[in-house]
Amino acid sequence: MKISALAVLFTTFFSLSMAAFHAPWSRPFTNTSNTIFDSLSCFGPVQKDFYYPRANFPKWLSDITGLHRWPGLSPPYVNGTNFNFSGIPEGPLYTQQSCNVTNHSLCSFDCDLCVGPKDIRHCNHLIQTFDDGPTPDTPTLLHHLHRTRNKASFFVLGIQVVVYPDVFRAMHNEGHFLASHTYGHKHLPSLPNRDIVAQLQWATWAMNATAGVIPKYFRPPFGGVDNRVRMIAERLGLTVIVWDLDTNDWKLTDASRTLDDIYDQIHAWKTSNIHGILLEHDNTMISVDAGIEISNIVGNGNITAANCKDDSAAWYG
Ligand SMILES: *[C@@H]1O[C@H](CO)[C@@H](O)[C@H](O)[C@H]1NC(C)=O
Ligand SMILES: *[C@@H]1O[C@H](CO)[C@@H](O)[C@H](O)[C@H]1NC(C)=O
Ligand SMILES: *[C@@H]1O[C@H](CO)[C@@H](O)[C@H](O)[C@H]1NC(C)=O
Ligand SMILES: *[C@@H]1O[C@H](CO)[C@@H](O)[C@H](O)[C@H]1NC(C)=O
Ligand SMILES: *[C@@H]1O[C@H](CO)[C@@H](O)[C@H](O)[C@H]1NC(C)=O
Ligand SMILES: *[C@@H]1O[C@H](CO)[C@@H](O)[C@H](O)[C@H]1NC(C)=O
Ligand SMILES: *[C@@H]1O[C@H](CO)[C@@H](O)[C@H](O)[C@H]1NC(C)=O
Ligand SMILES: [Zn+2]
Repeated sequence: MKISALAVLFTTFFSLSMAAFHAPWSRPFTNTSNTIFDSLSCFGPVQKDFYYPRANFPKWLSDITGLHRWPGLSPPYVNGTNFNFSGIPEGPLYTQQSCNVTNHSLCSFDCDLCVGPKDIRHCNHLIQTFDDGPTPDTPTLLHHLHRTRNKASFFVLGIQVVVYPDVFRAMHNEGHFLASHTYGHKHLPSLPNRDIVAQLQWATWAMNATAGVIPKYFRPPFGGVDNRVRMIAERLGLTVIVWDLDTNDWKLTDASRTLDDIYDQIHAWKTSNIHGILLEHDNTMISVDAGIEISNIVGNGNITAANCKDDSAAWYG
């Protein structure tokens, strides 16, 4: 799981840089240099211009943050939000690469597959969830879901929302379930409390500023969540949703898994009447192709992650 998750992050940014632009809301980037964005340190040099945010930075957000532009992958904690840190331990921190967690009472999902009492890991329906969007490939999926009158659940990255605001608004207009996947796809248990707050808070701000969505649910990148992260998320009104059925669609990009491997697996689950939360990604064209065919197999209509908990409202605002 650790290695796979890392590969997902890699493929996210790799695929973005390779993306083609066809849909009307996926205009080519203007080459504007943007010194605000920091670098993806793990993966070498970054095409910083690529992350040019097109979403409006509204006045209410300027008033709260004192900033005038969307930040990069590691957004700052903003004092003005008055987050109550009392009772939240400042550690222990563990890294995704080494998973050097020694205390199993931390209830780490990524290291120990431990699920908190309020976390959602399973569903009594077979549902599709897509992480790491919106991207230029998402509209192809949206178009298919529209034609077949199916709904899906999307866990979006704040930084992708501000780079592709029109795609995010299209997801919203189509009535899909929308939740947070943090702002910059960091492994949260590696971060100090203030940076975790910032990752969650800025994702909410991006979703709110772009489509008026204030999320109720979030999926930690790499499944990286422990009790410290849960406490912070809960104070921000966010409930954790992970997954129990991994399509491993990210392996499509290096051909270590084929589309047929995935479809065979989905057919097997469907035939055996296995329910659960399918993990997929809308960050590459091939994973979108897989998502379309899986939707044809699963055909779950208007069932989304909100139905796993009988939640009548998928988000707050
Ligand atoms: C984008 O602009 C920068 C600075 O103006 C320039 O150095 C760079 O070559 C440009 N990149 C492309 C792909 O045109
Ligand atoms: C936020 O508050 C802390 C102490 O409460 C202070 O050290 C820090 O400089 C403040 N940051 C900003 C940006 O005001
Ligand atoms: C902060 O949280 C602690 C622990 O839940 C609580 O006792 C305290 O009253 C809270 N403080 C404020 C200002 O809300
Ligand atoms: C895990 O490793 C990181 C980086 O080496 C370190 O900062 C952290 O304290 C370690 N955590 C534990 C629980 O040993
Ligand atoms: C493990 O963590 C729990 C709370 O999360 C704490 O009560 C306990 O003392 C810790 N044990 C060790 C050995 O650090
Ligand atoms: C959401 O946006 C509205 C403005 O449309 C703003 O007043 C409100 O404070 C924002 N709330 C959050 C949680 O971002
Ligand atoms: C989903 O609901 C819409 C109306 O809200 C309906 O038109 C559509 O047929 C439903 N889709 C399925 C597959 O049941
Ligand atoms: Zn992700």
